[in-house]
Amino acid sequence: MSASDSIPLRRYRDPLAGLPVALGVSGSIAAYKALSLASALTQAGALVDTLLTPAATRLVQPLAFQALTHRKVTHALWDSASEMAMDHVAVAHRICAFVIAPATADLLARLALGLADDAVTTTALATVAPLLVAPAMEPQMWAHPATQAHVAVLEARGATFIGPRPGRMASGLEGLGRMAEPVEVIDALRLRLGRSGPLAGRHVVVGSGPTREPIDPVRFLSNASSGHMGLALCRALLHAGARVSLVTGPVALPPPMGAEVVAVETAQQMCGAILDLAPAADALLMAAAVADYRPLTVSGHKIKKSEGDSILPLTRTPDILASLDRHLAGRPGPRPYRVGFAAETGDLEAYARDKLQRKGLDLVVANRVPESFGMGRHQAILVGAHDAEPIAAESKDAMAQAIVERVIVALNDRQSPPAP
Ligand code: C5P
Repeated sequence: MSASDSIPLRRYRDPLAGLPVALGVSGSIAAYKALSLASALTQAGALVDTLLTPAATRLVQPLAFQALTHRKVTHALWDSASEMAMDHVAVAHRICAFVIAPATADLLARLALGLADDAVTTTALATVAPLLVAPAMEPQMWAHPATQAHVAVLEARGATFIGPRPGRMASGLEGLGRMAEPVEVIDALRLRLGRSGPLAGRHVVVGSGPTREPIDPVRFLSNASSGHMGLALCRALLHAGARVSLVTGPVALPPPMGAEVVAVETAQQMCGAILDLAPAADALLMAAAVADYRPLTVSGHKIKKSEGDSILPLTRTPDILASLDRHLAGRPGPRPYRVGFAAETGDLEAYARDKLQRKGLDLVVANRVPESFGMGRHQAILVGAHDAEPIAAESKDAMAQAIVERVIVALNDRQSPPAP
């Protein structure tokens, strides 16, 4: 047993865990997707009260939602057995968010008018919780000025629209009208709930992924960074309410919903983007695996192979964090809280402390390798100017939450951001 085994394992805490949420379902054939959504919300830990319009019950069974959410389902205002019969606004008052998916053109019209003639519209009218709407309908219905006018009314009242997305409709037509996929709806919900989080009004820049240093038009030097850690940091920041700029090298993973993406290739380009964004930001989390060297010259044509060995002269790339530190040195005003990353096999704390000073950082996340690679347990020491906190986390998302907690504490100690 190593010393780090005694550190409590941090688990990922889903921002939806324990939150009462209502899921409103109306009568589109996309209602079948609402079953996956109900299941995914429940698995994320939300307490899901499902409300169906009478039309929805013709397409999906209330019992199916009950089985998936383990909670009573309401589908009729006048059913004496339903919670609505005893207290028709009980759900409206206890929820933190109301997700309507799918929302038909008819439902959007009734919501915009403020009608309250079924469980879904009554709850929408009686709640102050944020409303998220995932429309689903034929493309002509979505494009119709009447529907668009209702959407504008609902958006002006603060509703968040997710989709519709383009693609094949149940009718066989292609167009804009498909309900957003459940994962997207859940991401949008986490993002919406994060708006009032501890980083609301803060701007954080995240450097992520590898850089790519060209050799000739078809070859480059790079590394195996997947960008997972940077994206996990983005999600944790967004769910805490921050505005996030993601400066990323080429990765296969899609960026998190809500992040403002600046795509770069080379270390030089990443340096330019970071120096552009970070000075005015509240924090910079530099998880990128920046190439330390680049080819001294880039050939304009594909280099031909020849017999024998070949030598490629390399030169150093800029150290982005150190460049930023120099850039900030002469500037007045508060500096962004800066976090760097390190991977070490031994002497973690000593190397991290050296890096902290050399690059002018506030925190270094020193990962212990190879322990943190593919073991289902991520170990790191968060080294600050005056402390060193060992962390064991079950996943990169859990580690990202631990790092973002430090950012929250550090920024809380500073002046509050101006009201948006
Ligand atoms: O010096 P080393 O590469 O070990 O430091 C790692 C930290 O410095 C990471 O946060 C990485 O993103 C950052 N870095 C940088 N510019 C470089 C190389 C690394 O900002 N050229």
